[in-house]
Amino acid sequence: MPKVDSNYRINGSFKGKDIISVDQFSPKDFQKVFSEASKMKKQVLAHKSSTLLSGLVVGIIFYEPSTRTFSSFSSAVKRLGGITIEHQNPLQTSSVAKGETLEDTMKVLEAYSDAIVLRHPEVGSAKRAADAVDIPIFNAGDGPNQHPSQTLLDLYTILEVLGRLNNLKIAFVGDPLHYRVFHGQFAALSGYSNNQFYGISPKGLEMPKEYRNKDYNDVTIDMKNLDKTLQEIQPDIISVGRIPKEYIQGDAKKYSFTINVGTLKKLSSKIIIMHPLPRIDEITTDVDNDPRAVYFKHQIRNGLYIRMALLALVLGRIP
Ligand code: NCD
Repeated sequence: MPKVDSNYRINGSFKGKDIISVDQFSPKDFQKVFSEASKMKKQVLAHKSSTLLSGLVVGIIFYEPSTRTFSSFSSAVKRLGGITIEHQNPLQTSSVAKGETLEDTMKVLEAYSDAIVLRHPEVGSAKRAADAVDIPIFNAGDGPNQHPSQTLLDLYTILEVLGRLNNLKIAFVGDPLHYRVFHGQFAALSGYSNNQFYGISPKGLEMPKEYRNKDYNDVTIDMKNLDKTLQEIQPDIISVGRIPKEYIQGDAKKYSFTINVGTLKKLSSKIIIMHPLPRIDEITTDVDNDPRAVYFKHQIRNGLYIRMALLALVLGRIP
């Protein structure tokens, strides 16, 4: 489907737009995706088939590893009756191995599909791809920058479990410097009133200057003191992420930390613990059964519903 002249903001109209950054969305645009995602959820849970994307082909190409984002985009297209062309590991299996540029590869996929879902290790790669082709690009992660469909599913999860997106204290625990999931959550939740943000990290991994605003607080600590710090802040949301070793020079292990049942014992029963996954060792598995842990129970499933909604909106199959 040809894309509309790149009007950066969504502004109530998704059809034909690239999805590059959460900055394109207003709270009303988020709400539109959430209400369509709730309909998708009903459909999936009822095992109903759909022909919403019939006749459409979506190219899915990931230059970085992925389990959830890749599988849920693929599942989303197919559950809506569309088909996919899938490239995982294009550095080994496609002409990228011969040295083809991102722009050329995008033009090739454009010839065979109606939209492209792209994950790539470089900041700004999704925008470059969008500039190279006339079909919509879904940014599924551009290096340590953004991952908008993850942000959408994160906000949808918060709304589902806590019932609000405002008046929240959010603690980002891990690596706010490189972790695109934190960048997206921070940018999106900054658009709602009275939210306060705490970036809890070891020294050297603080949020980049260009992403900050006045509601953001650095809490640079020795991560051995994490439990005490969380007790002091008493956040409503503990948003946890792994230390992304692929973006860190030197030994990433020195930054490691752990949240365990002991950490949770001293915190309110009303909070939630989020993680986009994969988890390495930053949350112990005994936390998974705590009702406050929403990563397996809510986030991974919501990723499917959100991506179904986003695809159908951008491909113009729902008004
Ligand atoms: C995240 C990502 O790729 O940004 N994973 C995901 O999409 N579920 C987080 C990560 O890589 O750690």
